[in-house]
Amino acid sequence: MSALLTDQFGRVHTYLRISLTPACNFRCTYCMPDGENPALSSSRLLSAMEIIKLVSWLADEGVTKVRLTGGEPTIRKDLVEIVEGISQIPQIKQIGMTTNGFLLGEQLPRLVDAGLTSVNISLDSLSEPTFRKISGTNGLSRVLDSIHLALQTPGIEVKINSVLMRGINGTEAPDLVRYFLNHKTELRFIEFMPFGGNHWELSKFVSSAETRLLISNQFEHEKINEAHDSVSDSFQIKNHPLKVGFISSITDHFCSSCSRIRLTADGKFRSCLFDDGEVDLLTPLRKGAEKQEILSHLAGHLINKPAKHGGHDFSVQTTQRSMTSIGG
Ligand SMILES: C[S@@+](CC[C@H](N)C(=O)[O-])C[C@H]1O[C@@H](n2cnc3c(N)ncnc32)[C@H](O)[C@@H]1O
Repeated sequence: MSALLTDQFGRVHTYLRISLTPACNFRCTYCMPDGENPALSSSRLLSAMEIIKLVSWLADEGVTKVRLTGGEPTIRKDLVEIVEGISQIPQIKQIGMTTNGFLLGEQLPRLVDAGLTSVNISLDSLSEPTFRKISGTNGLSRVLDSIHLALQTPGIEVKINSVLMRGINGTEAPDLVRYFLNHKTELRFIEFMPFGGNHWELSKFVSSAETRLLISNQFEHEKINEAHDSVSDSFQIKNHPLKVGFISSITDHFCSSCSRIRLTADGKFRSCLFDDGEVDLLTPLRKGAEKQEILSHLAGHLINKPAKHGGHDFSVQTTQRSMTSIGG
């Protein structure tokens, strides 16, 4: 294991999250600020070749797991090429993708063939009007079709991500659990986090503890032990294949075991979702910088990764950039 991806607190970073584009075909209120069009011209995005090169350099230093995200990764025309290239890097053992699922159905078979090993699909509501209110689209039935296709596809692990907001979908957790009860998947509730322009308010915030209480009134469940760097507190629903997970980014952050580093779609390296400090890798890469130069830029930043939550206090806005522009 290389010291290069170890920070000042001894945390070793083996998990790389890459945003493929800040653009999205959905307009989820908690993710994309009103009126924002975050699309970038393709020349300002890391190309497939640049992504594959950076992943292979980081894999040499200990990265074993990659997640493709955005924005919406399925709107990248070269997504299959990117997955295929990453899957040929021998040290990379897992390639995941987080998606809203709308375009996933038509792409899934090629992505699995290319080497995708897991997919997290976002689903915040089973009610059409609520889904429309949150996402700004009529995509619910398409997303559900993609989820069912993924659940039936061999060779790929599927998780479902939900963000609950009081007064909108805050009490939907038991309905979502009931819907997936007989499926071999994990339904994960992510606490609503504040980002630039996403109208986060304490009055809309629903804690994991509250959601778990709602679920436990209807479904017996028991704790599952997870990997040391897992971000989710997970439970098995008794007598059913479904697992339920809680990602308590606000009430019980998991920074001390964080193994994540990030690349934004425009080639910036970030050591933490909430730390606005970034290092531009795209410019030196395009000027011909080689592996050691790029890695030393990156390591110089990573060593100072804050102990927790980007060093911020969650009672105030945490980061200036929106989730869609950083990459969730
Ligand atoms: C930014 S999205 C990008 C990938 C894809 N477009 C999707 O919908 O999954 C990745 C994940 O971040 C979550 N997310 C976005 N904004 C969030 C926020 N403010 N709080 C908690 N989770 C958020 C989404 O629900 C989604 O599961």
